[in-house]
Amino acid sequence: MGDIVTIFDTTLRDGEQSPGCSMNAKEKLIMAKQLEKLGVDIIEAGFPSSSPGDFESVQQIGHELKGPKVVGLCRAGDDDIDAGVNALKGSFNWGIHTFIATSDLHLKSKLNIDRKTAVEKAVKAVSRAKKHTDHVEFSAEDATRSDPGFLVEIFSEVVKAGATVLNVPDTVGYITPAEFHQLLIRLKNEVYHADNVIFSVHCHNDLGLAVANSLTAVEAGARQVECTINGIGERAGNASLEEIVMALKVRNQHFQVDTNIISEQLFQSSRLLTKLTGTVIQANKAIVGANAFAHEAGIHQAGIIKNALTYEIMKPESVGVSVNQLVLGKHSGRAALNTKINSLGYEVSDTELRNIFKKFKKLADKKKIVYDEDLEVLLMEERSSGVEKYKLVSVNVTSGTETIPTATVILEVDGKRLPAKASLGDGPVDAAFNTIREIVNIPCVLTAFVIKAVTGGTDAQGTVSVSIEWEGIKASGRGSHTDIVVASARSFVNALNRLDLFVQTRLVNEEDHDEIGGI
Ligand code: KIV
Ligand code: ZN
Repeated sequence: MGDIVTIFDTTLRDGEQSPGCSMNAKEKLIMAKQLEKLGVDIIEAGFPSSSPGDFESVQQIGHELKGPKVVGLCRAGDDDIDAGVNALKGSFNWGIHTFIATSDLHLKSKLNIDRKTAVEKAVKAVSRAKKHTDHVEFSAEDATRSDPGFLVEIFSEVVKAGATVLNVPDTVGYITPAEFHQLLIRLKNEVYHADNVIFSVHCHNDLGLAVANSLTAVEAGARQVECTINGIGERAGNASLEEIVMALKVRNQHFQVDTNIISEQLFQSSRLLTKLTGTVIQANKAIVGANAFAHEAGIHQAGIIKNALTYEIMKPESVGVSVNQLVLGKHSGRAALNTKINSLGYEVSDTELRNIFKKFKKLADKKKIVYDEDLEVLLMEERSSGVEKYKLVSVNVTSGTETIPTATVILEVDGKRLPAKASLGDGPVDAAFNTIREIVNIPCVLTAFVIKAVTGGTDAQGTVSVSIEWEGIKASGRGSHTDIVVASARSFVNALNRLDLFVQTRLVNEEDHDEIGGI
């Protein structure tokens, strides 16, 4: 067995920070529990000083999870470090991740400080955090556009102050694999007491090189990789966890390192995230995309039948893609439903099972077969139904070749049922959206609309994903139903709830916003 590479998951921080991927505290906790099941070593649960909502969410995750270490991101300043410590102290296993920019560009244009001040701030932040926890990670933001000599200097100083992990972020996804390899080797050779600390990397995907850069860094001796499920994150995203983990696993003889990840949980983790955030991944996405294990060409199919190894370098089951879909129908009972839910990797309470069973029966009456995906939709609906501002009570539409599409909608807003309202539109979905917009009085713009059948057949549930934008704030939402207009209305209301959450947890002051936007 080779060295273990620590998998540091930042889906709930860097990932969640990206437009359209916001989650509420309940959704973040659901995701954190799945990450625990997946076996990640460290979860970056959020940025405690960025908003009271993030503080509470980091606190809750830190106090509930017993497996992975939970860390919070803090800028190199007293208030940020204190917010991180206050959120996490009393947690089972926790640490602090602090950072400051090190490139001259960031120092001058963003922070307006010189290199000496940056070192002083970094050392002060690490020392302050170290008084409360043994695990202190320091990141040199924009490391790959920083003077390598200065990186050696600042990393050496923070090691002396007690940092245990040194993170080298490719913040803007700029470096190439060969350059990154060289940089890591130099840092490992020149930083003070380099053998006593862990080198970590955090790669963004602006040039599509995040995974390649992370892997080359492992070859150069990095023993922690920061990544996100489905590669979500700022702009083009972060390095994708599932791709890194499977590359290290499938090409184990080449890399000679292992991870603690239970790869059979990868697919479920990916699916859960798409359901919670409402963002879809492309069908040809490696490891978890819908086509990742689909063989279309006849010649490939023939090869696969004779010997799967001809065109498959890993088994679908190894990443949790189930090959035989066992199906339930309207005669299935509660016990069968529970067994099925468990086989999909979920555990539900008696109350959850009762509620899901009711919805399952309704769905089974409409569809002959209820597939795994249908069940997951029901499960997610049950789990993410929290206290939300807007609730769709009903939507009815008239449309056709001889009529102007009209939708009548009833909504509950803050628990109060409002009178029905009707509006026209270019089509039934447009009419439903117009009516909802008028009721909530938010003139948001629809920026994306994707409709997908969850399973095959004309009785399939449709899942609609939408993105909306209002006053520069973006949010996405998702809704499912056998009627696509209802699915669309649900997705729109879901997006409005996320928009509302985003507005409520908006950063407390604009200065903070500017700087956080630069991460
Ligand atoms: O991309 C980045 O530089 C970051 C750091 C805060 C680690 O997210
Ligand atoms: Zn980042």
